Amino acid sequence: MSTLSAAEQNPLASLDVWEDDLLERYPDPEAIAQGKTTEEYRNYENPGRDTVREFYRLNHTYQTYDFVLEKEREFLKFDKKEMPVWDAFTFLNQLVDDSDPDTDLDQLQHLLQTSEAIRADGHPDWMVLVGLLHDMGKVLCLFGEPQWAVVGDTFPVGCAHSDKIVYPEFFKANPDTYDERYNTKYGVYTPNCGLRNVHMSWGHDEYVYQMVKDHLPEQGLYMLRYHSFYPQHRENAYDHLMDDHDREMFKWVNLFNPYDLYSKNPTPPNWTELRPYYEDLVAKYLPATLKF
Ligand SMILES: [Fe+2]
Ligand SMILES: [Fe+2]
Repeated sequence: MSTLSAAEQNPLASLDVWEDDLLERYPDPEAIAQGKTTEEYRNYENPGRDTVREFYRLNHTYQTYDFVLEKEREFLKFDKKEMPVWDAFTFLNQLVDDSDPDTDLDQLQHLLQTSEAIRADGHPDWMVLVGLLHDMGKVLCLFGEPQWAVVGDTFPVGCAHSDKIVYPEFFKANPDTYDERYNTKYGVYTPNCGLRNVHMSWGHDEYVYQMVKDHLPEQGLYMLRYHSFYPQHRENAYDHLMDDHDREMFKWVNLFNPYDLYSKNPTPPNWTELRPYYEDLVAKYLPATLKF
């Protein structure tokens, strides 16, 4: 991957462009598995669309089974950095991109708006914490990872790519498409083997899940691990890899998704006021420092 040009490393003006684009694709919180077809979707008027297309072209080309295993080896050692959650937010906020005039909220503000919306609806405190942490894995960008290996809809690797994944035609450039081990419906997996046995395309979801997996209830861990798995939670494209336990847990993933996607608001949350509550919440569940 060392041969990537700057444009291939960062096709989007900022990571937020991906999430803004998701809102165009899934404008309705209730619209589970009835999103626009890819054809309708790409006809939307949107000046950011070309960069999003290019982003998915790179993502679908390079996210192979081998690439994912290599990234898991590299990052799940957690030997890059150790810091308190609070320092991680400061670190994460370096991701604000000056070249993107539309990025008016920093990363922490998106996290707080998500967690505050969850709190306002009276959900359990660990789910509020999930809201606060869910995008912390985006620090991968600060370790030099290309945007398409940090964000984007996630999908299983090691088996056939569903045509319900956004821009499925870009998988034509993915070598796994032509590899007999990986291009059948089940590929390296067995029917309904359970998602715990499935490698997902690499990004911020798996990374943050692995980081905090010993500290939160399983429902919350599913939310973290699969929050970008739109091909399943919105399109139901991979039911054949899920077991009954996954289906039960995906009720929680579905509960979480609207808070991530629809809580964005131009008014920044009052961090000074909120901080004591969140300090207590973090101290209740997490160790003093996290390993990145
Ligand atoms: Fe996310
Ligand atoms: Fe998010």
